[in-house]
Amino acid sequence: MNAYDLGGKRAIVTGGAGGFGIGIAQALLAGGATVELWDVNGDGLQAARAAFAGARVAARVVDITREQEVEEAVAAFATGGRIDILVNNAGVLGEVRPVWETSPADFRRVLEVNLVGAYLMARAVTPRMRGQDAAPLRGHIVNMSSIQGKEGMPMAGAYAASKAALIALTKTLAKETARDGVVVTAVTPAAAETAMAKLLTPERRAEIEGRIPAGRFVAVDEVARLVAWLCTDDCSFSTGGVFDISGGRASY
Ligand SMILES: NC(=O)c1ccc[n+]([C@@H]2O[C@H](COP(=O)([O-])OP(=O)(O)OC[C@H]3O[C@@H](n4cnc5c(N)ncnc54)[C@H](O)[C@@H]3O)[C@@H](O)[C@H]2O)c1
Repeated sequence: MNAYDLGGKRAIVTGGAGGFGIGIAQALLAGGATVELWDVNGDGLQAARAAFAGARVAARVVDITREQEVEEAVAAFATGGRIDILVNNAGVLGEVRPVWETSPADFRRVLEVNLVGAYLMARAVTPRMRGQDAAPLRGHIVNMSSIQGKEGMPMAGAYAASKAALIALTKTLAKETARDGVVVTAVTPAAAETAMAKLLTPERRAEIEGRIPAGRFVAVDEVARLVAWLCTDDCSFSTGGVFDISGGRASY
């Protein structure tokens, strides 16, 4: 497969120790980008970083729910040059229960990571993107939503709500920056073969697979390559776009 042209771009990928994070980093690196993996899981981050064993990859422990930590990390990253790409990919699944049995603490935690964390990242990164030279664009932000944000999902109310809200945040930020050369998009994958999938019981897995017309989970690489394209300057006029990758589960 051809690599997308991301030569010279500097990228932050949150959730960089996780399945999609590593896959996305690989795809960005293949295009020539320099990538920093950010994650709250320091051990996982070191393992991920070591797996790349090359130049152009760095790792930083950051909890994206902590405003001060995010601001300091973004400021530190910016001392090295431009912020061309932000992939807001960190996320948590939360309890697998009906809404009325979900604990308020868990509901809040899921919203805090999946929505507030993405907001804090965008809040710190966007002004810096807007302030840098157009080359030809000023930056790309890709938010990792989910098919569950479009469709809802029994037993995952907080998760689905957080991902729906992330779509609305994507569209809003896109409209706010549309004249600034900052392109903001979201992707809505179906279930994928990552660590999150390993938390599923066989029954739950079969139930989810049954909802996907293609009859299988999406491969990490399929999602990673879509994200990589969304980070290129070829993706220049699709700001606010929500890119479906759900094997036909959503056809919008
Ligand atoms: N796996 C799927 O089936 C699937 C489908 C659609 C969307 N997604 C989304 O893709 C993203 C990545 O999922 P994944 O499957 O790679 O999961 P994963 O659990 O492998 O990776 C998620 C990463 O986010 C990190 N993280 C959690 N809280 C954090 C915080 N406060 N600050 C920084 N990092 C934090 C975790 O440590 C982990 O490394 C998530 O947003 C998820 O909701 C996943």
